[in-house]
Amino acid sequence: MANLGSLIEKTLPGHVVGLLREAGRLAEEGRFGDARSASSGFSTPGTGASRAYLVGGPVRDLLLGAELSDIDITVTGDGEAFGRALAERVGGAIAARSEFGTVVLRVGDPAVDIATARRESYAGPGALPDVEPGTLEEDLARRDFTVNAMAVDITPAGWGELIDNHGGQRDLTMRRLRVLHDRSFVDDPTRILRVLRYEARLRFKLDPHTLEYVQRDAHYLDYVSAPRILAELEKILNEPLRHAILTAAEERGVIAAIAPSLRISGRAIQAMRQTQEAGEERDTLFHVALIGASLTEEEAAAVVERLEPPSEWARVLRAGPQFRAMAPVLVRPDLKLSEIYDLLRPFPLPALDAQVALAPATAQRDRLNAYLSDLRFVKPECRGDDLLEAGVPQGPLVGKLLAELLTARLDRTVQSQEEELALVRRRLPVLLGRASTET
Ligand code: CTP
Repeated sequence: MANLGSLIEKTLPGHVVGLLREAGRLAEEGRFGDARSASSGFSTPGTGASRAYLVGGPVRDLLLGAELSDIDITVTGDGEAFGRALAERVGGAIAARSEFGTVVLRVGDPAVDIATARRESYAGPGALPDVEPGTLEEDLARRDFTVNAMAVDITPAGWGELIDNHGGQRDLTMRRLRVLHDRSFVDDPTRILRVLRYEARLRFKLDPHTLEYVQRDAHYLDYVSAPRILAELEKILNEPLRHAILTAAEERGVIAAIAPSLRISGRAIQAMRQTQEAGEERDTLFHVALIGASLTEEEAAAVVERLEPPSEWARVLRAGPQFRAMAPVLVRPDLKLSEIYDLLRPFPLPALDAQVALAPATAQRDRLNAYLSDLRFVKPECRGDDLLEAGVPQGPLVGKLLAELLTARLDRTVQSQEEELALVRRRLPVLLGRASTET
């Protein structure tokens, strides 16, 4: 097998190489080999010295010459105790602890994920796996794709040795994504969303069997919990090539498999592509809003029910059909600026940004732009105190007059504080008279 020792030293930043070497030395000291009394709760294997490996994504990215987004280390033995000992040695902090005896060590960038080598079994499609400590070989065999199932030994005795039992390196050369076995997507249907993400990001092809399994098994996405689907969707929306991923997901029936009501329209995909090609940085909510823009009210409600998203996601999804219902009014030529303001103010900004991206150059877009770049910032110069000073009695009239001032400011019927106060003085007797007849 290949040795990646010198590739690691040549391409990874010095502090990362130092950390990997330190981790390898620590593992070789042998104190973590027996997980029987492990704090992670694991109670089986192994005796003797542990071994530590760089695994999964970073090995793939190292071989591709891409920047590493995280460092994943797997140890045979007690990963949690190992992580704590490594943190003590290199001065970092254990930042978080998740399931399966995994810890995250923060010592500069990127973060280091440390895990116990494990084997997994699945009770049913979409279920979280049952996990037991295992060998490195078992740990690699439980993974999603061959290119993610390689490891590099970082212990001094085997420094740099590539472990590639599933043909990952060959698949990297062939630029091919391949599952390790034919039930991979049944075990974990979220891998269907992952493979589409890698296909676009790495510009790889799905091998024919893997593509067949995607289509065969997409319906198992229905078994996956809302938070897991949501996490994968968010990762997709955060990829620069999200439009390519979503196009492939639509074509292969994956979007409908997530929720029958979920559709990604051609217009949304086109807008995603255009903003990406124009180099515009847009956040996740903008893209969620693009998706919401073509849903009906019922579809948006069904999607929210399926995904259980955070409230801002739900708001921008629902804003799509609400905007469409209002849009014919927005283009009426006789609208005053204050009326445009009142129509658009209830909408979350990402939903309006999405509508601008979707709208052709029309009156609708002009009005959206006027609101976004100008109207939404308009405020009267007078504050509540100024009104009290001008003789307005404390109470609801203050708010009412401030609202009238805002309208007047928006419609440019007042242009200075003096004109605002003159308006207040004109309106006050009328409003007071009305208030007294109302009581
Ligand atoms: N993995 C898996 N099945 C999943 C999720 C993850 O087999 N459903 C494995 C893969 O081997 C993957 C590793 O766990 O490489 C770490 O997962 P993650 O951090 O999500 O992937 P990376 O490849 O490290 O990161 P990214 O996908 O963002 O490049």
